[in-house]
Amino acid sequence: MGSAQEARARMVDALRRDGRVRTDAVARAMSTVPRHLFLPDSTVETAYADNAVVTKVVDGVALSSASQPSMVAIMLEQLDLRPGQRVLEIGAGTGYNAALMAQLVGRAGVVTSVDIDEDIVVAAAGHLVAAGCPDVVLVTGDGALGHPAGAPYDRVVLTVGAADLRPEWVAQLAAGGRLLLPLRVRGSQLSVALDLGADGLLRSASVRSCAFIRLRGEGAGEEQVVALDDEGWWAELADPGTSLPDRDAIRGALDRPGPETTLGVRLAGADVWDGLGLWLALAEPTVFRLLARDAAAASDTAAELVAIAGARATLAVPGVGGFAAIVQDDDGGPARVRCHGDVGPELAAHVAGLVAAWVGAERPHSADLQLTVSPRGTVRPPGRCRVELPSATVLVEHLRPPAP
Ligand SMILES: C[S@@+](CC[C@H](N)C(=O)[O-])C[C@H]1O[C@@H](n2cnc3c(N)ncnc32)[C@H](O)[C@@H]1O
Repeated sequence: MGSAQEARARMVDALRRDGRVRTDAVARAMSTVPRHLFLPDSTVETAYADNAVVTKVVDGVALSSASQPSMVAIMLEQLDLRPGQRVLEIGAGTGYNAALMAQLVGRAGVVTSVDIDEDIVVAAAGHLVAAGCPDVVLVTGDGALGHPAGAPYDRVVLTVGAADLRPEWVAQLAAGGRLLLPLRVRGSQLSVALDLGADGLLRSASVRSCAFIRLRGEGAGEEQVVALDDEGWWAELADPGTSLPDRDAIRGALDRPGPETTLGVRLAGADVWDGLGLWLALAEPTVFRLLARDAAAASDTAAELVAIAGARATLAVPGVGGFAAIVQDDDGGPARVRCHGDVGPELAAHVAGLVAAWVGAERPHSADLQLTVSPRGTVRPPGRCRVELPSATVLVEHLRPPAP
């Protein structure tokens, strides 16, 4: 057995052990498709490590990558592909995921994959030929529009992050089809598998947490990350409809810590993004993630934020002349809510109450969510936790809604 084959077998074994690969079909596909041929500039070791590999950067921004194998496996399981199905992928990238899907649908199925950049499509075509999967249909175009020429599709899958559920994707789904996409819901990116019902509503079959590069082009949506200064302090808004009260006031309040309330909980990075983070943002759309990167990440102030992939982050609720933020020390002690600037202890008490409700609901995360999406023009199902996207309403259930 060659070294690439051995590395691939080790990768699939590890993904099985971790529960990312659950079915024999996905295991077979990932054992067969040679990921290293889709990453010709990487070593075999890099190609089979469980990491995303960035393949295109412009002005310091990553525009394309081969997604992390764990995430690829999670999404293939969510897709539940069957032989003979027609699939549309938006975000061809290296072509690796398209090749895996081609294995899963077999010769009777069709995989069409769209990327917005011609150079990426040309490279993906070369990788697919090298890997012996020339049957994937590659298209250069803006995936926000789908690819109507090949519709209807049994599956439409985005491997790039969306802030809206475009009507084109739903219109191009076959009856009973499944749309799988990394969807931004109040600041948390969720990989949501949505089944199209006869009533036009889409209901989630599964939800997982994820972190994808953002969609470019017509469906890019509004930027939700705003710089607070030049040192690396940023605020990421949960809801693009809400604007941060006053950036200078927020940045100034950061240097004016006030009273604290202790919480009976300690937070991990995942809690900030899609567990407690989403819970708070559903109750308080003004919530923002306070991020410290670069120089700011190494500052004493940032030391009390939660460590996430080389940066520090936390959740904060703005008030008049400041905000209340969740902080915790690296020593393992419980988190606290701290007032910054002019805000009074009642804001901290409000945040503490929301955290207590999340703990009382047994700390739900993305996998505990049930989403129902009503595209514009369909009947909106009743429910309390509704998030408005430009083209659809998302009803979020299973999180026990916080008390009014
Ligand atoms: C994370 S990569 C996809 C990884 C890919 N599936 C693979 O297996 O290598 C995201 C891709 O989405 C593409 N993309 C971004 N905006 C797009 C759009 N509007 N339409 C189509 N592709 C887009 C990027 O160019 C990038 O190649």
